[in-house]
Amino acid sequence: MNETSDPISLSAKALREFRDDVLAGLKKEPKELQSKYLYDAEGDELFRQIMRAPEYYLTDCEMEIFKEQCADMAAPLNDFRDGLDVIELGAGDAAKSYYLLQYLISQGFNFTYYPIDISANIINILKDQLPERLPGIKIQGIQGDYFQALKKAVATSSRPKLVMFLGGNIGNMPPEEALEFCIELRRNLSPGDRVLMGFDLKKDPWLIFNAYNDHGGITEKFNLNLLSRINRELGANFDTSLFHHYENYDPETGACKSYLISKANQVVTIGAQQISFREHEHIFTETSQKYTSEQIGAFASGSGFESLLKLTDSKDWFTDVIWRAV
Ligand SMILES: C[S@@+](CC[C@H](N)C(=O)[O-])C[C@H]1O[C@@H](n2cnc3c(N)ncnc32)[C@H](O)[C@@H]1O
Repeated sequence: MNETSDPISLSAKALREFRDDVLAGLKKEPKELQSKYLYDAEGDELFRQIMRAPEYYLTDCEMEIFKEQCADMAAPLNDFRDGLDVIELGAGDAAKSYYLLQYLISQGFNFTYYPIDISANIINILKDQLPERLPGIKIQGIQGDYFQALKKAVATSSRPKLVMFLGGNIGNMPPEEALEFCIELRRNLSPGDRVLMGFDLKKDPWLIFNAYNDHGGITEKFNLNLLSRINRELGANFDTSLFHHYENYDPETGACKSYLISKANQVVTIGAQQISFREHEHIFTETSQKYTSEQIGAFASGSGFESLLKLTDSKDWFTDVIWRAV
């Protein structure tokens, strides 16, 4: 199956959707842009730099879980040794799942890995690089939106599934949307299938705030790249020096939100359309929701899953849970 496309040029349909979503979002009051569009080739690279930033504890915490607790993680999968589809939604560079995949290979599991990502660029990187790093791995990358791509992956075989959804991915949804996501995920799976999901836990608000305000300014570049991407792909004329990144964490709701703030009154042209910005006006670009263990348990029971396992890092800042579809 070759489900990847040219990393640079989007298909005509994807480009139309991108343009429609951007214009609809910027005509809203308040303005917003969907976070899934942060990830083009430049965004993928900037996100990989964010993961290495000292303030961005999420990757280190989840990496520790994957490096040190793979055997525990794989134990609930033992029944599926002879045939398993491992599907990863929003796989990114698979830096953490790599360790579980390596462990499954070393234990003789018979599985195919289906990384799914909206970014064709990252899927192409995975397809090129993973077989070199994990000889013998069977990999079928699928580029697309979560559920559209998941349906394709699920349809390829009747084998049991493990669906991974790691890092900050579920955090990119506010709690109501995250529950809807879990319900939709369950609808696409069969009883007995497993889910491995990562959640960032509520903790000292300063740690969270600093994670999205790194001193190196990579998060700002990542956020501003969305405007550059709109320039590149939709023929717009954003002057990125006239916007800055702003982050806000609310310990009450657990929502950590990213914004781009206009530094001046300005008018931007996107194709034939003109969008006005007031000085200090914000564009909401991404949420990074933080959860409590109780909320996570409620997601499982509220969406048709049973919790099998909860793993945390040594600081108790991040958790990966394994659920079974009931
Ligand atoms: C925050 S990164 C996390 C990557 C990886 N899961 C990790 O933990 O390191 C989010 C990834 O999800 C992908 N993504 C975001 N929205 C998506 C969507 N709606 N459908 C498919 N992939 C999506 C992005 O392209 C990006 O690679």
